[in-house]
Amino acid sequence: MSYQTGTGPRTAVVTGAASPRGIGFAVASRFAAEGWPVALLDIDAAGAEAAADKIAGEFGTRVVGIGVDVTDEDSVARAVEALAAAGLPPVGALANIAGVASPVPFLEVDMREWRRVVDINLTGTFLTCRALLPQMLEHGYGRIVNMSSVSAQQGGGVFSKTPYSAAKAGVLGLTRSLAREFAPQGITVNAVSPGVVDTDIRAGATDEANEAALAAAVPLGRQGTPADIAALVVFLSSEDASYITGTTQNINGGSYIA
Ligand SMILES: NC(=O)c1ccc[n+]([C@@H]2O[C@H](COP(=O)([O-])OP(=O)(O)OC[C@H]3O[C@@H](n4cnc5c(N)ncnc54)[C@H](O)[C@@H]3O)[C@@H](O)[C@H]2O)c1
Repeated sequence: MSYQTGTGPRTAVVTGAASPRGIGFAVASRFAAEGWPVALLDIDAAGAEAAADKIAGEFGTRVVGIGVDVTDEDSVARAVEALAAAGLPPVGALANIAGVASPVPFLEVDMREWRRVVDINLTGTFLTCRALLPQMLEHGYGRIVNMSSVSAQQGGGVFSKTPYSAAKAGVLGLTRSLAREFAPQGITVNAVSPGVVDTDIRAGATDEANEAALAAAVPLGRQGTPADIAALVVFLSSEDASYITGTTQNINGGSYIA
């Protein structure tokens, strides 16, 4: 079965989906579990292909893995061509999950680190939106979910500092502006803003005692899981979410209550 919208079957594109312990992989899996054909896009091309095979094997939907550097306009264009060549239905949902953390203290942030973090977290989101919105407009169904972070709202996070906060705050502005511009065509654009989620993004930056302290600091008593985030992203991509746009969806166990 493929995911069927009122206007026909649609494919979900998920960036940053190669890491088996990551949020993107969980999002791609959840889309597949709900019957969507899925394209996993990641700078780790081999990882994306392996992840796609795993998800296809588990859920029986069509899943492809494609290499992309979301910061590179030509690479994004090539990924969109590869997706078209794979013969999946038109893209109806785009989840921009690719991202990197940056623990560097502000006075040590050089131009290279600034550009790396802003390019992957913010410019990458701009490039994939611009590349895939035309398909959504042409085929009459579009849901975009962009990954921000509580770090954007509270001014830094546990593992990330200024460039990351700035880039993720930029994602909120991009999201709101796109939401307003494309609402007349029925395209919805929302941001998801997690607190601490147990993935490899901060690999090496923590230990067991620190992990326990992180969980204890969350009112709901645990870190988030990739599956928690995936359920929200896939709901926001569904037909049931057609009246939700321009929002920032906080998902943090109560650790940031705005
Ligand atoms: N884990 C958390 O605590 C947390 C909290 C808030 C927000 N987030 C955000 O969630 C998203 C996913 O994070 P995660 O924890 O699953 O991290 P992760 O490191 O497990 O996954 C990130 C993925 O992005 C891919 N990627 C990196 N650079 C890329 C590029 N240039 N082009 C394409 N793909 C690229 C990586 O290969 C990786 O598969 C990120 O945007 C992150 O900022 C994470």
